[in-house]
Parts: sequence; structure tokens; C-alpha cells
Amino acid sequence: MKRITLFCLLLITCYPALAQNYDEAKVPHYTLPDVLKTTSGKTIRNEEKWEKLRRPEVLKLFEDHIYGQMPTDYDSIRYALTEDDQPLMNGKAVLKQVGVTVFRKGKSVLINVVLFVPTQARKPVPVFLLINNRGKENTDPTRAKKSEFWPAEMVIDSGFAIAAFHVSDLAPDNKDTYATGVLQKLYPEQLTKDNGMKAIGAWAWGASRVMDYFETDKDIDSKKVIVVGHSRGGKTSLWAAAQDQRFAACITNCSGNTGAALARRQFGERISRINTTFPHWFNDHYKKYNDKEGALPVDQHMLIALIAPRPVYATNASKDLWADPKGTFLALKAAEPVYALYGIKSGLPKDPPGIDQPVIGAHFGYHNREGEHNMTTYDWGNFIRFARKF
Ligand code: GCU
Repeated sequence: MKRITLFCLLLITCYPALAQNYDEAKVPHYTLPDVLKTTSGKTIRNEEKWEKLRRPEVLKLFEDHIYGQMPTDYDSIRYALTEDDQPLMNGKAVLKQVGVTVFRKGKSVLINVVLFVPTQARKPVPVFLLINNRGKENTDPTRAKKSEFWPAEMVIDSGFAIAAFHVSDLAPDNKDTYATGVLQKLYPEQLTKDNGMKAIGAWAWGASRVMDYFETDKDIDSKKVIVVGHSRGGKTSLWAAAQDQRFAACITNCSGNTGAALARRQFGERISRINTTFPHWFNDHYKKYNDKEGALPVDQHMLIALIAPRPVYATNASKDLWADPKGTFLALKAAEPVYALYGIKSGLPKDPPGIDQPVIGAHFGYHNREGEHNMTTYDWGNFIRFARKF
């Protein structure tokens, strides 16, 4: 009896994970929504019509059905800069710590930015901005702790600046407390809407406020800000770049479901699972698509297309089937027609390249690193190569 209860318990706990498909043969037949066809059935044939008609429509579909609205109004923004006189990293970099405070209706939110600027490089310099969803020690300003997740020394040696902020400054990554940041303080009305912004929207909003700061910093080339995110942070970097066209390029690392991977393949993590485990990431409307991927008016290739003609680099790791490496590659491929409107060829092969065989063009990059779900110096090395291309 005892054994049976234990077995049942185990089954209940493991069922959602077991229910995920990792078998290519079981991927259902699917048809992606046509990124170039408007809801009224018009076919888009040039970049003007894309930008005027279809792009705003697709952006709104993502807002309404997945990521929520992106409020852009606030009363004022203030930057408090602390700059170290003494260069760090053997004289190669200067540390700037910036407190970005955003005010609306008498309330405020503070975003702490860590920024290293190379001393040698000609100013203004391009910058990588990481949306940090892991521990704060990964972006240690003192450099006592060093992490592959944000290899500041390596990026500085390559002549780029590197910056980061932590997602908890905007919205705690917790289903019970996510609203206590930017949502309750600045945009409480978002909490009452079906298509209101939630945590991932709030994190992306934060990236845009850091962008506001970069526009005022003479060391930084604000036309060359590359927004980077890993996993849930990679879902966020895509959404940030899609809705804020000031970002010059987007890097989305192992972002998987509701990131760079196609939902309709139903491979690895699925919408029902992400909405159940992380109900605070996406808007309430998105829950309608649990086990109904085919009913979504968009798929994730259209999120990538919103970034066109700006460059996008997507990665995976070979052991991270949860994030569907093949589905990520196929999403990039399915975004190609929009880049083609701008005369851009993706340079991606027809089929996914092998493990550790990065394909790096001027507009698209993709690799599937050997190993686990993570962001490593292997990944960053390729991001730097990619950034140099454009
Ligand atoms: C979970 C989640 C993923 C997410 C990942 C992460 O695995 O299911 O969607 O990308 O966490 O952020 O590390």
C-alpha cells in the first residue's frame, strides 16, 4: 500500500516533466503563422509596408497575447554616477556604477547598473548589456568574484564596454512578490489588465531605462548597444529588442520556450508548463494557449522578425533539449523573409549546424554548444566575433 502511494506521488510530481516530448518523430505537423500576411489578408512585399502595417500589428499581438503592454511614460529619470578614479583590471577598465531612478506619480524605482569601460579603446565604445537573471555575484563590480556568465575581463580585452543590471531591481522573480517592484510602484494599472505587463515585461522595461542612460554617457556609443540575456533573461532580451528599436542587436542564449524556440513544435518545455511554473512571467491572456499552441496568432519566429533589420544571435546547448535547439534554429530561419525585405540574406544553412559549429554572419548568428544549459566564455567568444562583424 505504502509503495503504491509513493509511486502515485512520484507520478504526480514527475508527470509534467515526463509529458514533455524529446522525440523528433513526435513533433506534430504544424503550420507557422505567415509573418508577411496582415490580419486582413494583405501580403507584405517591401520594408515600408512591413514597418507601417505589419510590424505594429505583430508587436501588438505579442503584447496582447504574451508579454503584456510596455508602458513608456514616466515623469522623470535621474542618474547618480559613481566613477572609480583608479582603473581596474590592470589599468584596462574604468568602473562606473550608475543608479538609474525612474519617477512616476510620486513613486520611484531604482535600477543599479554596473558598467566597465575599456580605457584603451577610442570613445564612444559599443557595449554589451546583460539582463542578469542569476545571482548578483555574477556581475561583481569589485572583480573579487569572476564568472563565465559575465566575463568582464574578456569583453574589455576585446575593446567593448560591458554592463549589467539585475532583474530583481524591476520585479522579483517570484510568483508571489513579482508585483512589488516596477508594477505596484509605477504602473499599478497594468496589474488589472489581461494584457498587462508582468515580470518579463518589467525586466525588458528596465533594459530600456538603462538604454536611456547610455544615451547620456559620452563613453558609450548608444547606437551600438547589444542587449544580452540567458534563458528567462534571453526571453527578455528578445522582447526588449523587439519593442525598443534603439537596441542595435540582440543576443538570446538558451532562451527556449517563449524565447527563441518555436512553440508549435511542442518540443521540450511547452506553454502550459511555463505558465504553470512561472505564472508571473507572461500576461494572463497567455494562459489561454496552454496546450493550444496552434491557436496562437503568432509564433516565436515573428518575435525575431520584429528585430529586423538588426542582428540577432541565438544559442543553445546540446544537453539542453528543454530549450529546443532545433526549434530555435528553425525560428531564425522562419524570420528570414522579413530580413529579406531589407535585402539581407541570413547566411544560415538549411539545416542546423553541428554541435560547436557556430555560424556567424553579419545579421544572424547561431550555435549549439556542447554541454548544459548555461552561458559560458565559449558563448561570449562567439558574441564578440558576431559583434565585430557588424
Ligand atoms: C526554467 C524554465 C525555462 C527558463 C529557465 C531559466 O527551466 O522552464 O523556461 O528558460 O528556467 O531561466 O533558466
